[in-house]
Amino acid sequence: MKCKYSEIMKTIISKFDEETNYKLAVITHYIQTHELDVSKYYRDKALKYLQDEDLINLLSNIEWDIPFPPTKKPMFTFIDLFAGIGGMRIAFQNLGGKCVFSSEWDRHAQITYESNFGEIPFGDITKINEKDIPEHDILVAGFPCQAFSIAGRRGGFEDTRGTLFFDVARILKEKQPKAFFLENVKGLANHARGKTLKVILNTLRDDLNYYVPDPQIVNAKDFGVPQNRERIFIVGFRKDIGVTNFKYPEPIKKEVCVKDILEERPVSVKYYLSTRYLETLIEHKKRHESKGNGFGYEIIPPDGIANAIVVGGMGRERNLIIDKRLTDFTPVTNIKGEVNKEGIRRMTPREWARLQGFPDSFIIKVSDAQAYKQFGNSVAIPAIQATANEVIKLVFGEVKKE
Ligand SMILES: C[S@@+](CC[C@H](N)C(=O)[O-])C[C@H]1O[C@@H](n2cnc3c(N)ncnc32)[C@H](O)[C@@H]1O
Repeated sequence: MKCKYSEIMKTIISKFDEETNYKLAVITHYIQTHELDVSKYYRDKALKYLQDEDLINLLSNIEWDIPFPPTKKPMFTFIDLFAGIGGMRIAFQNLGGKCVFSSEWDRHAQITYESNFGEIPFGDITKINEKDIPEHDILVAGFPCQAFSIAGRRGGFEDTRGTLFFDVARILKEKQPKAFFLENVKGLANHARGKTLKVILNTLRDDLNYYVPDPQIVNAKDFGVPQNRERIFIVGFRKDIGVTNFKYPEPIKKEVCVKDILEERPVSVKYYLSTRYLETLIEHKKRHESKGNGFGYEIIPPDGIANAIVVGGMGRERNLIIDKRLTDFTPVTNIKGEVNKEGIRRMTPREWARLQGFPDSFIIKVSDAQAYKQFGNSVAIPAIQATANEVIKLVFGEVKKE
């Protein structure tokens, strides 16, 4: 008899107290991988925590009632570091990969991740021993960029200690996956006058002995989503794989604009700006413009391309739109002034999800504030997938799509 994943999880969660995240990470990773050899990394602990033979027996007959279940008959395995809400995971799963380990310490991001993939990521990566991570073919990481202090030294593996890149490097060193895909903000290229990137490349190329073509700045809008988002991609191949030449994908010729991703129905009045807030934004822009600094709110026309969606730094205000479908202007939140009558509103979290290429089946369970943060922190899936496709082709031959 089949048993739904969500039902099994309800029973499992009811068995634990609050300090359960680690245990739940072990158990869900075991559920995801129990048919593979790598499940040995989770099995003993998972069985110890579960202590329920009947439940364990159900695992072989699980019915995945979540949007992105584990890949059946995977073509390759990967791990998802600094996983966020799994934007990179979707791209790699779409290409036939199976995730065998994930790490993300933000509790709200973990909730989104679990509701979509049926897996709770492990927490702080700096506390995870690289030996406890299963073997995998591809390491995937969108690591946060931090300052590297490398004064007077060559700048390699040991000099990155204390940074999150070090955690990526020590896992690569121990596990030696066939390839990796790292993603970061465009600013990494010029960070500390280029030194940070140089240290990263020295480490990957010389200390870890990977073939690493020059990194590429990739723009999301070139891959079919209406968002001007530039990110740096760094891919690498273990030398014995024999890859000596890598070409990043060419932009695809698909015209898209903001109106393609807008909600089909009128949205809540809560997304519409108050007249008072609009005045503040206009004032703010005037002040900055008079100083020759154009930074401020922006209304994106329906046939335009959105600015990069980011956390903080006017992320939402730089992507306002005009949507005249609102009929009831009664506010539902505590606002100063009244709701503007020109139809000026923020985009919704679902619209942000679409700007990043997330399919509409992606579940958004958290508050709006968390959802904006999560999508702003995430990746444009089509750009990742197009690049990952080139990597997979070189390592495994043709790509299998589910
Ligand atoms: C730029 S985001 C990556 C987003 C992800 N690629 C996605 O598609 O959603 C970086 C993530 O790293 C997480 N993070 C930062 N430090 C961490 C740590 N020490 N251990 C685990 N996760 C960490 C942050 O919470 C954040 O979600």
